Amino acid sequence: MNSSPWWKEATIYQIYPRSFFDSNSDGEGDLPGITSKLDYVKSLGVDAIWLSPFYTSPNKDGGYDVANPRDVDPRFGNLEDARELITQAHKRDLRVIADIVPNHFSDQHEWFQAALKSKRGSKERERFHFYDANEDGTPPNNWISLFGGPSWTQVEDGQFYLHLFDSSQPDLNWENPEVNADFEKTLRFWIDLGVDGFRIDVAHGLIKEDVLTNHPDPQGLSNALRLDVAMDSDERNALLLTVPYFDRQGVHEIYRKWRKLFDSYSGREIMAVAEAWVHPPVNATRYVRADELHQVFNFDLLTAEFDSDVLFDVVERSISLNATVNALPTWALSNHDSPRVASRIGDEQARALALFVFGLPGSAYVFAGQELGLPDGQLQDSDRQDPTFFRTNGAIKGRDGARVPLPWSGDTTPFGFSTAKPWLPISQSWKDLTIENELADPKSSLHLYKNALELRKEFLVGAGGITWLESSQHGHKSDSLLSYSRGSITVVMNLSDSAKECDAAGKLIIVSGGTVDARDGKKVIPARSTAWFLT
Ligand code: NOJ
Repeated sequence: MNSSPWWKEATIYQIYPRSFFDSNSDGEGDLPGITSKLDYVKSLGVDAIWLSPFYTSPNKDGGYDVANPRDVDPRFGNLEDARELITQAHKRDLRVIADIVPNHFSDQHEWFQAALKSKRGSKERERFHFYDANEDGTPPNNWISLFGGPSWTQVEDGQFYLHLFDSSQPDLNWENPEVNADFEKTLRFWIDLGVDGFRIDVAHGLIKEDVLTNHPDPQGLSNALRLDVAMDSDERNALLLTVPYFDRQGVHEIYRKWRKLFDSYSGREIMAVAEAWVHPPVNATRYVRADELHQVFNFDLLTAEFDSDVLFDVVERSISLNATVNALPTWALSNHDSPRVASRIGDEQARALALFVFGLPGSAYVFAGQELGLPDGQLQDSDRQDPTFFRTNGAIKGRDGARVPLPWSGDTTPFGFSTAKPWLPISQSWKDLTIENELADPKSSLHLYKNALELRKEFLVGAGGITWLESSQHGHKSDSLLSYSRGSITVVMNLSDSAKECDAAGKLIIVSGGTVDARDGKKVIPARSTAWFLT
């Protein structure tokens, strides 16, 4: 079966360029390194790659601090390398999604440098959010950056500028037409170079309101907005309802314009996926209305417990809310901002959840290394590079654990990733998790992913909606089974620590771990495992 347009039920592989493969022995991954491994990527059975930023950047926030959005940082190669990567991906029928960062620039961008040299009220400062200090000299409001510490930094003449993230990432003023025009230029630049779509960073953040108003709990709000800070979900949701700088109505006008721009490339099917973590969840559907973007990330599975009621709610809500705007959901278990799923919920559980999710309608995002079952890297504080670690004086460890480079081959760290010292250390304990080793082991996580993605393409893409068979609300037999059917496939996940019987009909075609037995006409699903049956 297939799905049209290409992005609708695609599997998209997220590559963090610095951690993928180092082709020039400087300890950091690069674009030619990615190009050289595209056959591996293709062999996974994915449809597209999403490249985290590789633009000119001082790299204070892993490249999400962009100094020139229309060029490649020398650490990653050059524009020719980008063009070659896209060409080679297309040759293998892989689409390419670039990451665009419209909420802020790096302080090294020429606009910000010009703003620093210009006077208060100048057109150079108008492109950012510059305000005078309060009468007592304090910043214009009490907002806390998402990376910790104040959201404001003072410049020489006493004015403050707003940065929702690091002080090196000044927020752009989207009320300014020059900002709009510059981003349209950037979109066209990458489309003309051949990219097939965009992942829009902080897509919900471009328009700010009440900039001069204090928030009643700025630190709580900052924590609630971080995927790597654990928090009670009621407390988190209550705080998320109060955020003054995200999900303002004005952002939708911007995406309506961008959609027109994308659609003006006839025959290209340019898509965009919004990184918009908004609350209540229904608000996310606004980003995927027919005249806006194509997909919006669902972040729920990055934090959801391995619990049948929780997972049922997430899946049901996401499918039904998206249906109200005729869109399909997206599913992601890991990304570069959150703890890796195998560390967060356990190795067997992570495999079970992946197989459960690959059966669902919509697009599946896989973070490079997830297919290997990689855990978070174990790092010393001296290894850490995430600005969060520094801005919170080490109180929050940050996201480096998920960004440790991939282990490719051999018995000794850095496992073929580089011939130099990698930018983050790869633990020797990852010896059995190399791509080389997992390719040789038919029971590996890598084989599970490859087999599942092949079956997904054959039987599930384009197969329509799901019918729940077992959950707390659908013929519930045990609080540990979650099951649905879709097309000719029945998916059963056993979340408990013991084997469970189920009534699923059909022939077993894949199981995430253990062996499925038959007993008295029933199927016995192993503990912490998911199985697919074909009827
Ligand atoms: C979200 C990105 O995924 C994250 O890595 C980055 O730090 C922030 N946006 C700021 O750009």
